[in-house]
Amino acid sequence: MTTPAAGRLVALEGVDGCGKSTQAARLAQVLGAVLTHEPGATGLGRALRALLLDPSATSAPGPRTEALLMAADRAQHVDEVVRPALDAGRWVVTDRYSGSTLAYQGWGRRLPVAALREVVGFASGGVEADLSVLVDVPPEVARRRLAGARPDRLESLDPGFHRRVRDGYLELARGEPHRWVVVDGAGSVDDVATAVESAVRERLGAT
Ligand code: TYD
Repeated sequence: MTTPAAGRLVALEGVDGCGKSTQAARLAQVLGAVLTHEPGATGLGRALRALLLDPSATSAPGPRTEALLMAADRAQHVDEVVRPALDAGRWVVTDRYSGSTLAYQGWGRRLPVAALREVVGFASGGVEADLSVLVDVPPEVARRRLAGARPDRLESLDPGFHRRVRDGYLELARGEPHRWVVVDGAGSVDDVATAVESAVRERLGAT
């Protein structure tokens, strides 16, 4: 049973370099929402994030370990940050949520998506995003935007991985159109922000 939440949860999703972090911050500001992110928004989560993303780690987690560590981060994030804010009637904008696990560990790492859905459901304790906004960009655009930055462990994976992740996101959005909206992320920051805000207002109503 889920506690009925008074606030609304909006997740920004997309491949590395799509610009969703900038957009999450802009959206949270216009909505007056709590801004948060995954992985690593809690004390425990920051330790998990280091285990997950440090490119110099001597023992990189295998795909199932990676999925479970992401899930552990989410469980803590929901308990410490997301659910308390929703229960207090706040809107919450999170930079990544369950869609990231399905797209990255499911399509990217090729773990079975049905099993991952169980894992993410358990991890979130039933707190689903009211709307996931996919900031969609072609892989070349994302790669160009990331050029020059020091890549973390997942960002340094091959282009095939990132193509699969993008395809996964698009399939998730097609499969659950009432829970997802796709925004073209290739335009200017202002244009994308306007598109994200109007999609959220249209789908969830203004706060
Ligand atoms: P993030 O901090 O959003 O990186 P960036 O700001 O560069 O987009 O996310 C870190 C990485 O973790 C990113 O490559 C996506 C990955 N990730 C997963 O693979 N599964 C998950 O469930 C989550 C939340 C993130």
